[in-house]
Amino acid sequence: MAVISTDIVEDILALKKERNATILAHNYQIAEIQELADFVGDSLGLSYCATRADAEVIAFCGVHFMGETAKIINPAKRVILPDLDAGCSLAEACPADKLEAYLHQNAEKNYYVIAYINCSAGVKALSDVICTSGNAVKIVNSAPRNRNILFVPDQNLGAWVMQQTGRKMDLWRGSCYIHIEFTHRSITKIRNTFPDAAVVAHPECIESVRILADEVCSTEKMIHYCANSPAKSFIIVTESGMLHRLRREIPDKIFIPGPTETCACADCRFMKMNTLEKLHDCLLNLQPEIEIAEAIRARAERPIRRMLELSR
Ligand code: 13P
Ligand code: SF4
Repeated sequence: MAVISTDIVEDILALKKERNATILAHNYQIAEIQELADFVGDSLGLSYCATRADAEVIAFCGVHFMGETAKIINPAKRVILPDLDAGCSLAEACPADKLEAYLHQNAEKNYYVIAYINCSAGVKALSDVICTSGNAVKIVNSAPRNRNILFVPDQNLGAWVMQQTGRKMDLWRGSCYIHIEFTHRSITKIRNTFPDAAVVAHPECIESVRILADEVCSTEKMIHYCANSPAKSFIIVTESGMLHRLRREIPDKIFIPGPTETCACADCRFMKMNTLEKLHDCLLNLQPEIEIAEAIRARAERPIRRMLELSR
């Protein structure tokens, strides 16, 4: 367990009050940030939370696209991020200009575009509906039956959703650089070491890993699955920050990080850019702040609202 400097935690909490701020944190954040956040959750939970936030400032401890999503649905609020460089390999894999050109070149397909929330505001603005790993099956099932679907940017989540729904989709070839590090061999090896443990994997993992899992689900659903499963121990095949939340909320069970070929667990370098010091400074300076051109923000809001309606 990390040693937390009480001074900086107290300073952050005092600043939070002074700035009338709420601190939202993703499940992959470092333990110290999860401990002081007002809400910790997955992308879907954080999106709902952002719609309900009544503070003037949202300090978003996650990656850039998550802060952008909060800003898109809260244009009047200041959304600050401890580190503006906290990106995402999935968002990088699908630049808005490339998607726009692709849609133009394939205009005869009249695509219904479903964008995984791990994408930029520019990509959201080009999409019909957004989904998260927590509601992707529901969103794809509700897509119009007479339209071709283009699913961006995660080919692994897209392939899993196709298997779950039976809906055919064209997939953008993006992937999460960290989830594709788990391999069939690395997960088989740990499963052989802990034969009684249930395997829980995120749908961003490749298929040869997903087929080894007892459950494939979003980070939030991992909490419910592990709490309600008769199993006493679990191999968690996702980013390492998830282990803190699971251990904190389900202290009587054992959680083992899924290893990659080279590491005992997987850290997303973007998620881990946020530190207590940077959170402190961003609350102090109200910087760095997420800013989005209004024309893009307004277009990006529609598919997010559609998602929130559909997944209620
Ligand atoms: P969740 O929405 O399941 O938390 O996933 C977000 C993410 O970035 C996974 O890598
Ligand atoms: Fe993006 Fe992967 Fe990091 Fe999630 S874990 S934020 S998908 S790079």
